Amino acid sequence: MNTKRIIVGNWKMNPSTFVEARKISRKIKRFAPDLAKTEVVICPPFPFIAGIVPRKEIKNFHMGSQNVSVEENIGPFTGEVSSSMLSNIGCEYVIVGHSEQRKKGDTDATVAKRMKHVLDVGMKAVLCVGESVRDDGGLYLEQLKNQIKNSFTDIPKKYAGNIVIAYEPIWAIGAEEAMRPEQIYETSLFVKKVFSDVFGPENGIKVKVLYGGAVNFRNSVDIILTGKVDGLLVGRESVNVSGFIELLKAVDSV
Ligand code: PGA
Repeated sequence: MNTKRIIVGNWKMNPSTFVEARKISRKIKRFAPDLAKTEVVICPPFPFIAGIVPRKEIKNFHMGSQNVSVEENIGPFTGEVSSSMLSNIGCEYVIVGHSEQRKKGDTDATVAKRMKHVLDVGMKAVLCVGESVRDDGGLYLEQLKNQIKNSFTDIPKKYAGNIVIAYEPIWAIGAEEAMRPEQIYETSLFVKKVFSDVFGPENGIKVKVLYGGAVNFRNSVDIILTGKVDGLLVGRESVNVSGFIELLKAVDSV
């Protein structure tokens, strides 16, 4: 079983040029082999992926994309990119169901389709889930549970090992402050429990749950240690390459 932590860099629609993208990725590629307990996945925008995929495997370094089509394969789907295309160019991970995509219309049903396509071609899916508000009555737990369960419609148990869950409370994404690590711990346990309900306890123990939302190099260690998560999904700090490398160093040292 792979016990390494996973740090996923979600570049979103950044940077503006391929030259800059190469510069950032080169520094991360150079640093990744020094990591002892951590794996890095960087997810640049689609047009930059093929030019950044390493020609030879680099220890602890992986490429991901930020989304994938709901369509299964090639065909008349203007503007779409399929999981088989991503896999073919050496992409290993796909972020699925990010709240910024859900805001534009992605639903649990379309997320479930994307998940299936990613897993069918042997890639790993980073499923994003998270509540929009945290109410006192615990309704957010219901929302989370449904999001998780509905994303696994038609996903066979054999794929469980290729699923990573990123818990990202929507209110913390792009915010100044991350969620409190104690709350992250509680919620990540809940996420694991729901995963076990679907895929069985043997998979529930193994699933990696990441936290995302306002993570930076300063708060990363506390989130890992007190929040007891298996990794992080990092937005803004992932394109600030010096901060991102500091974050990797910090997380790897604890
Ligand atoms: P942020 O974004 O780290 O900039 O808050 C996280 C995300 O959206 O994945």
